[in-house]
Amino acid sequence: MAVPTVKLSSGYDMPMVGLGTFDLKPDSTAAAAVSASLQAGYRHFDTAWIYNTEATVGNTLNQKIRDGDVTREELFVTTKGDVRGSIGQPVAEIMKQLKPSDRDYVDTWRDMEKLVDEGLVRSIGVSNFNVQQLSRLLNTPGLRYRPVCNQIEIHPYHTNGELVECCHRTGVVPVSFSTLGRGGNYSDSRGTMTLLQDPVLTSLATKYDKTAAQVILRWCIQMNVAVIPKSSNPDRIRQNMQLFDFQLSGPDMAAISALNQNRRVWDISLWKDFPNFPDSPSTSI
Ligand code: A2P
Repeated sequence: MAVPTVKLSSGYDMPMVGLGTFDLKPDSTAAAAVSASLQAGYRHFDTAWIYNTEATVGNTLNQKIRDGDVTREELFVTTKGDVRGSIGQPVAEIMKQLKPSDRDYVDTWRDMEKLVDEGLVRSIGVSNFNVQQLSRLLNTPGLRYRPVCNQIEIHPYHTNGELVECCHRTGVVPVSFSTLGRGGNYSDSRGTMTLLQDPVLTSLATKYDKTAAQVILRWCIQMNVAVIPKSSNPDRIRQNMQLFDFQLSGPDMAAISALNQNRRVWDISLWKDFPNFPDSPSTSI
């Protein structure tokens, strides 16, 4: 079955489900995950310079194109750069070493627009922009290409409602990262987050004969939020695509949204002194 797509403001279609490749090992694990995903029907792949998976994703897809398993036209590949960091180190280390730039993101946007003009990319978008930043960019005089998407942290414990609503109102597709709360693999001062074991989600999983992960992903899809769950496990890769044979009721959607705790699985507070720090109380990402 073809994956449902969303029409971007650039005119291109983006599959609503993609494979996230953050935290995949840039070796045979990532290559196997990309292969398993293609087989499971994924046509959307999300990478970034800092994930250190761009080459593996690109090489694996190229090989599959050469093998005739897929065509380039069917594929939607997202990447992000050009940030300075240390490749090959644990994420926490990279997070510490990343130095946010003081450069105005509108100037960066102008550079990104040139990539479209040069035919190097088809669509350009943003990530971790808050309501004010997104609005400022969209209202920039002489803007030639609109951001097609805003990739932000969205899951039942961090629903990000105001920003999602802003994206929808302005024709920017919200893309959720860490949709599964990093697989329950996160601890902070509030303790360990076990999103996938949340009783509301596990009881809905039983009700719909799905897993808690599928319930969360479906909740996003029904809100018109695209998802890019990361997995290296072929069964879970397949599972994360099986979202289109059930529908959550209105009350069940609301029950999931009511789980919100404004609780991130990414601590970005170390960037709080950065002039474009996006996380102020009124405009949390
Ligand atoms: P694995 O690669 O072993 O499947 P997030 O996208 O929120 O960062 O979550 C990614 C984490 O969630 C990974 O640790 C991944 O582990 C795990 N994961 C991905 N899909 C599922 C699933 N369907 N059920 C349970 N855990 C999952």
